[in-house]
Amino acid sequence: MPLCQLIYASRPFGFNAEMLDDILVAARRNNARKSITGALVCRADLFLQILEGPRLAVTETFGRILRDDRHIEVALLHCADTSDRLFPSWTMRDDPPQSWMWPREDVRQGAAAETTTAQAVEIFRRLSCEPRAE
Ligand SMILES: Cc1cc2nc3c(=O)[nH]c(=O)nc-3n(C[C@H](O)[C@H](O)[C@H](O)COP(=O)(O)O)c2cc1C
Repeated sequence: MPLCQLIYASRPFGFNAEMLDDILVAARRNNARKSITGALVCRADLFLQILEGPRLAVTETFGRILRDDRHIEVALLHCADTSDRLFPSWTMRDDPPQSWMWPREDVRQGAAAETTTAQAVEIFRRLSCEPRAE
């Protein structure tokens, strides 16, 4: 079955630590069952997520994520077949945005949603080479 990689950006709605915990618990439980791996860059002003796994599982999961009211302005940045996973050992890694991604002010002005496909893939490629921030 072809592997697919999907990246989107969105804006959290009503963000707090408990909400993020709930998202990650559900994501990790469901993704483990569906062979999905990935990473979620998250902060009060930004979600940027990569999902990788069997195409059907990824598109079905993204369909549920799209309908989730804990975020708004979901912008699909990348969806393509891939031969390798960037986060093979993470059912959903979580990281705050890194200083090399965007300045906070740029995020506020919607920089994430305007990221090109190549930039979005490059962000996660680079993140996958770094240890998860504690
Ligand atoms: C930013 C964000 C990322 C999410 N990531 C995932 C994910 O990777 N996998 C997943 O199954 N659900 C994810 N969810 C949650 C889904 O939208 C949905 O609530 C959940 O899949 C429902 O699962 P449940 O019926 O088992 O509770 C995410 C939600 C948000 C807002």
